[in-house]
This record gives sequence, structure tokens and C-alpha cells, in this order.
Amino acid sequence: MAVTVRSFAKINLGLSIGPARPDRFHALETVYQTVSVHDLIHVEAASGDGIEIRCQNPAVPCGATNTCYRVAERMMRFLGRKAELTITIDKHLPVQGGLGAGSANAVATIFALERELGQPLPAAERLRIAAEVGSDLPLFLLGGTVLGVGRGEEVYPLQDLPAIPCLLITPPVAVSTPQAFRDWDALVAREAEVSACAAQAGADATQEGHLTAPAASVKLNKFSLSAFEWLSHLNKSGVPVETDGDRAETPLLDLVRAGIENDFERVVFPQYPELRDVKRRLEREGADYASLSGSGSTMYGLFRTRECAVQAAEKLSAEGLSVTIAETLTRCEYRAQRFV
Ligand code: C5P
Repeated sequence: MAVTVRSFAKINLGLSIGPARPDRFHALETVYQTVSVHDLIHVEAASGDGIEIRCQNPAVPCGATNTCYRVAERMMRFLGRKAELTITIDKHLPVQGGLGAGSANAVATIFALERELGQPLPAAERLRIAAEVGSDLPLFLLGGTVLGVGRGEEVYPLQDLPAIPCLLITPPVAVSTPQAFRDWDALVAREAEVSACAAQAGADATQEGHLTAPAASVKLNKFSLSAFEWLSHLNKSGVPVETDGDRAETPLLDLVRAGIENDFERVVFPQYPELRDVKRRLEREGADYASLSGSGSTMYGLFRTRECAVQAAEKLSAEGLSVTIAETLTRCEYRAQRFV
């Protein structure tokens, strides 16, 4: 009997890119949030040996580079088991869309294979395998609202917050994540050069804030402070503490109002101006917050009510955009809905 697992997507609520590290990954800080849209992963084990990946979508690699293949191979090695595994990916999410779909597929494979083999991995081993296969995998071991640091693989569960409606739009452009990181490095280098030139010319670059590119580590501190401030305004049940008539409707909207941004927008929007247009359209149609997810190309908008989201979806669809109505998925629901 095959085991079927829902492989939910994520969005990033802010993403601050820090300095490149000696291992060539970038330090980063982000808040991941799982959302209700998903692929389905079916895993079946028979007697024999080997891993076969099946997927109808030609954009998904079916060989040893597939993230599902890579986790399955590592799990079988760790468990010392042999089986003929068939992993079928029922693809609904965009490939390379900034929703972490490939990473989610891999973690869904871990959950499905554990159940199919009747042998759970120790938690530490799950995390080790997930982090080895990709920076975006460990968040899916937790689900809900998750703080990601390190290269994104070091994850901390944040308070489980009420679900809020959102719209997802994935314009048909392919953004390469490694290239987006390289573009970010080039942007930071250019800004540092401008600052150095200004300083050399005697301009007071420190006071002329717009000439001074903030150091990557300073930016990370700013992100941490915003996230910390937000957390300290939540009470134990994840509800914002009222502050003199300035109460946020939902804690997630309160977080994004703390001023967090996705740094990738600064390199991706100039290359794909249509993505900036989608962000503006989402804002104009009433999104309380709209942003690129990861390095894109998915744009999302968070809305106060489902009615607002549905109305906005109707208007944007009429303009020819392909819009998906979803909602953020709490950790509790992420776990409850995992197995089909
Ligand atoms: O870890 P993952 O396989 O998702 O990373 C894909 C690529 O994105 C890496 O090879 C690296 O070029 C880039 N990356 C990075 N810094 C991170 C995460 C990813 O530079 N924190």
C-alpha cells in the first residue's frame, strides 16, 4: 500500500541576506510560513532495491538529482534497509517558483517513507538529512511560522498563529536562486564602491545615509530586532497585545508591518519589472502586505478577510493573471493534514 503525503508550500515573510560565508552560502534571516497549497507525494516500497521517481511534469528531474531521491537514498543508507522504492510526485505547485516546492516534496518523502517502512528516523537524523539536501528543507519538518537563520537551514518554531487569507501569483518567468544570490553580491559590491568613493571625495558618507550601504551584518541585526519586537508584542496564545488603539488585526500582518522586506526584490524586480507590477496590483486590490516569496517568481498578498482576497482574485484574474486563493497554514493544521 502506497503512503500519500501532502507536500505544502511556504512563503517568506521578509528575507534579509547577510554576508557570503566561507562555504559560499549566504547568512540569512527569514520567517517562513507554510501555506495551504500543496503537491502530493506517494511512496511505495516493494521487495528489491532501487529508487524510481515518477512525475508527469517534464520540468521535474526524475534522476538522482531529484530532492526526493536524495533524501530517500540517505534514509535507506542510514536505516540499513533495501527496497524497491517508487516515489510519485503529483505536481500542482510551480517548479522553481520560490514556494519551496522541491524542498517540501523531499520532506514529504521522509514522512511517507518512515510510515511505509514502519520505521521512524530519530529526530536529529531527520534534521541532518534535510539540512544536507537543501537549506529550505528543515522548515518543513516543523511547519507553521518558522524563523530561519544560518543559511536558512537552522529553524526555530515561532508561535502558532491564526491562519490568514492570501493570494499567490506565479508569473511565468524562471528565476535562478544561485544567480539571484550572485546578483545580490554584485549589488552589495557596487553599493560599497559608491560609499567608498563618496568617503574618498570628502563627503560625509556616514551622515548621508542614502550613500552608505548598510553592512550585511547590520541588516541582519535590523531584521532580528523587528522579529524580536514583534514576538515581544504577542501574548502566550499568539495574539498581539493591544497598544493604545493601534492593535493589529492579525499577528502575521503585525509582523510584516514591522517593516521586514525581502532583499531579493532589489535584484529580481529590476530584471523582471512585471513582478513589481504584480506587487503593486496586489497592494492596490487591498493586500495588507505583498511581497516576492524567496527568489521568486511567486508573489503573494496577505489579506484581512477571505472576502477581500476573493474580490481581489476576481479582479486580478480578469486582467489575465493566474491567481490562486490560499491561506497560511498553522503548525497544528500542517501536522493534522499531512497524511492523506
Ligand atoms: O541549499 P540550496 O540547495 O537550496 O541552495 C541552492 C543554492 O543557493 C546554493 O548552491 C547557493 O548557491 C545558494 N544559496 C546561498 N545562500 C543560502 C542558500 C542558498 O548562496 N543561504
